[in-house]
Amino acid sequence: MINDNKLLKKYNVPTPRYTSYPPANFFTFDFDYYKAIEAVNKSNEEIPENISFYLHIPFCSQLCYYCGCNTVITKDKNIISDYVEVLKKEILLYKEHLSADRKISQIHWGGGTPDYLDISQIKDIIQVFYENFNFIENPEIAMECHPAHLTYDFMNLSADLGFNRLSIGIQDFSEDVLNNVNRALPNLPVEDLVSFLHNKGISVNLDFVYGLPGQTLESFRHTIQKAADISPDRLALFSYAHVPWVKTHQKILERYNLPDAELKTKLFDEAYKILTENGYISIGLDHFAKPEDELSQASENKMLSRNFQGYCTRRTTGQVYALGISGISQLSNVYLQNTKDLTVYKSQIEKGIFPFEKVYFLNKNEKIIGYIITEIMSNRYISFNTVEKRFNILYDEILSITELNIDKLKEFENEGLVFLTGKEIFVTHKGMFFLRNIAALFDPLFKNTEKKFSKSL
Ligand SMILES: C[S@@+](CC[C@H](N)C(=O)[O-])C[C@H]1O[C@@H](n2cnc3c(N)ncnc32)[C@H](O)[C@@H]1O
Ligand code: SF4
Repeated sequence: MINDNKLLKKYNVPTPRYTSYPPANFFTFDFDYYKAIEAVNKSNEEIPENISFYLHIPFCSQLCYYCGCNTVITKDKNIISDYVEVLKKEILLYKEHLSADRKISQIHWGGGTPDYLDISQIKDIIQVFYENFNFIENPEIAMECHPAHLTYDFMNLSADLGFNRLSIGIQDFSEDVLNNVNRALPNLPVEDLVSFLHNKGISVNLDFVYGLPGQTLESFRHTIQKAADISPDRLALFSYAHVPWVKTHQKILERYNLPDAELKTKLFDEAYKILTENGYISIGLDHFAKPEDELSQASENKMLSRNFQGYCTRRTTGQVYALGISGISQLSNVYLQNTKDLTVYKSQIEKGIFPFEKVYFLNKNEKIIGYIITEIMSNRYISFNTVEKRFNILYDEILSITELNIDKLKEFENEGLVFLTGKEIFVTHKGMFFLRNIAALFDPLFKNTEKKFSKSL
């Protein structure tokens, strides 16, 4: 339990979320297109060999005021069916550049709201993958869903199409909280959705957000207890990221008293208590999973990793090729972000051009720093011996490229956030709340930037 207001105040400062290193606001518009294509071609020779595809379906029927995702709010079905056709072409464009002997280990449908598509459109798209690529055994086929659109038919057909993981955005079970943020209510009782999916053999994740207007300790306790009773395989408990300078609609929420860092920490603490008492294992920054789940096992073996799609295991996570507007490909040597503009996206794909808008080529030092930060954010642990061996580098060089301030690290130790021994750093239970701050110790770009980030708590 964190009841140390001094620490909360000290560390609740703008800090990257580290879903990538460098964070996406370091990507640049100014890049050489042919060098980017060369990087895609070269990814065929790099590790991991498997292919993960991310499909961004940006459409939603209604704007939730807290939303930080890249969305297109529309009721126009023509816009959506047009997009489906373009996506199919983008898959084939990738086919031309990826070695035929590489296999797909994962397809992740995110958004926006993929289940806002008709299931026939989802079938149309997924068939292009099945007809044109090889797959590993037991690939992960996952989709993010809004419960307002989920029907038994949709879930049945999803299972037939090979989906084996569905993530459902609940955010909160309190109707008052959902009304405050303009969020549509579930179409069916969530307990029925989850048991139906379990009967179909589909693993279920439920997303929650803490820090929304109207949430109290009492109401959130009720929400999380209900979640535990429903018993999904995984839960994500995201801290509300308030970034009104990027997502201007979030300003609407400023008319409420948004929960402050102290209340947010209490909300997380309470949820942590309920979930762990109900047998869930706490994973990384903000996830929970049943002990038998792949994520828990990967966490136990310090084999957890993290990308734009969230926490992942090394078994299924390949280099990520992203399709659709705003999607970010995460390849070994480069990040490539697609345009956010529907018209530009369509016209580029029609011309057979990748719709990249922003790119970041990683150098060796950035890969090392990225590895260290991912280890902290995922496994809450770093072994410098491993870093030395993995990257053939000396400890002193690691300190120099990360610009690590040892005194600052010692300060974190004195505050009980980390435990240092030899060349290892363990994050303590208390430090779990400050993972982003601990990771930032190793980030020279952050130390030297004026860029804006959400607060860490
Ligand atoms: C693409 S949405 C999930 C699918 C669907 N659109 C929905 O809302 O149910 C991804 C998740 O991001 C989380 N999210 C969105 N905006 C956020 C914010 N500003 N801060 C923290 N989490 C956020 C929500 O938990 C949401 O479920
Ligand atoms: S939270 Fe989900 S449904 Fe709501 S606007 Fe964002 S992406 Fe769309």
